[in-house]
Amino acid sequence: MEFGSDNNAGAAPEIIAAVNEANAGPSPSYGNDPIMDRVRQKIREIFEAPEAAVYLVGTGTAANALSLAINCTPWGTVYCHPLSHVENDECGAPEFFIGGGKLKLVQGDHGKMTPEALQTAIGGTPQGDVHTSQRGMVTITNTTEAGTVYSPSEIAALSRVAKQYSLPVHLDGSRFANAVVATGCSPAEMTWKSGVDIVSFGGTKNGCLGVEAVVIFDPAKAWEFELRRKRGGHLFSKHRYLSAQMDAYLTSDLWLKLAAHANGQAKRLSDGMARMPHVKFLHPHAANILFVSMPRQYHRQAMNAGAHYYLHPFSASLDGPDDERIDARLVCSWCTSDREIDQFLALIRDQG
Ligand SMILES: Cc1ncc(COP(=O)(O)O)c(C=O)c1O
Repeated sequence: MEFGSDNNAGAAPEIIAAVNEANAGPSPSYGNDPIMDRVRQKIREIFEAPEAAVYLVGTGTAANALSLAINCTPWGTVYCHPLSHVENDECGAPEFFIGGGKLKLVQGDHGKMTPEALQTAIGGTPQGDVHTSQRGMVTITNTTEAGTVYSPSEIAALSRVAKQYSLPVHLDGSRFANAVVATGCSPAEMTWKSGVDIVSFGGTKNGCLGVEAVVIFDPAKAWEFELRRKRGGHLFSKHRYLSAQMDAYLTSDLWLKLAAHANGQAKRLSDGMARMPHVKFLHPHAANILFVSMPRQYHRQAMNAGAHYYLHPFSASLDGPDDERIDARLVCSWCTSDREIDQFLALIRDQG
């Protein structure tokens, strides 16, 4: 019963097979492999962006930090949500790669910035004063860290505010596939058609071994990205293994099928929990992540029987009064089984 993270899931068999196939014989290094040509072509087709520059890196943190670095000056401000991965989980990599930079937090319920709060944050950054950081760029996450999903019109509303100040917009799409499946909208609608300039397009969480693409809609930014990727230690010499993963991921809509499974299993889990009066949902859920609260005794029953997931905050403990409510995050992945969900639901059912 693994609900800790989609990072805890293994890699899909199609991805492993593709890596194995790419292992035959020599291949040009450093991204000059023929599989990368296919990947570039496929991503341009999927995003309906024939001019887009496409690069692969090994981690989501690198994808985000490099994307921000080519769009923000060392004295610039990056506007992001308080729950964002760039703010909480990247050990300052965005600031490090930018060579400075200042993250400014923009509020909004359920992991989503509101256009009003963004307007206030950008408008409230003084300009022309040498003592303060200047306006830089906006970064949003979809699927959000709260498990919610921005629609294209919500993204467009944020982009409109950013564009009013001529600021670029980055999308952290480490779970982009889950957001695309949840909304039923096209990758183009979810990005450049809604004003997004650059995307970290995730593969790792959704069944790859370890690969993320960066999709840059303005090719004028491409060379700087290449230089920064190399300088940042993220240009893989045996790049074909990254390419092979991404190629398989995009073949026959595998990326969408894997995300549809993860989202579907989260729905099965939430439908089961919604029938239990002691379970409360903390955010509206649409993708593969649920945040719930329930009395400690149910967490204890589930975890002691082998269910794995994280309590929130991390300092929360199974020790304490039975009836005290504790929050938790539950994540489904491309390989979460019906059996795992049904076992978990049986464990947290009210026995009384
Ligand atoms: C929203 C989000 N962005 C980016 C990442 C990528 O992180 P990593 O550098 O661990 O691949 C994660 C991983 O947990 C994430 O949840």
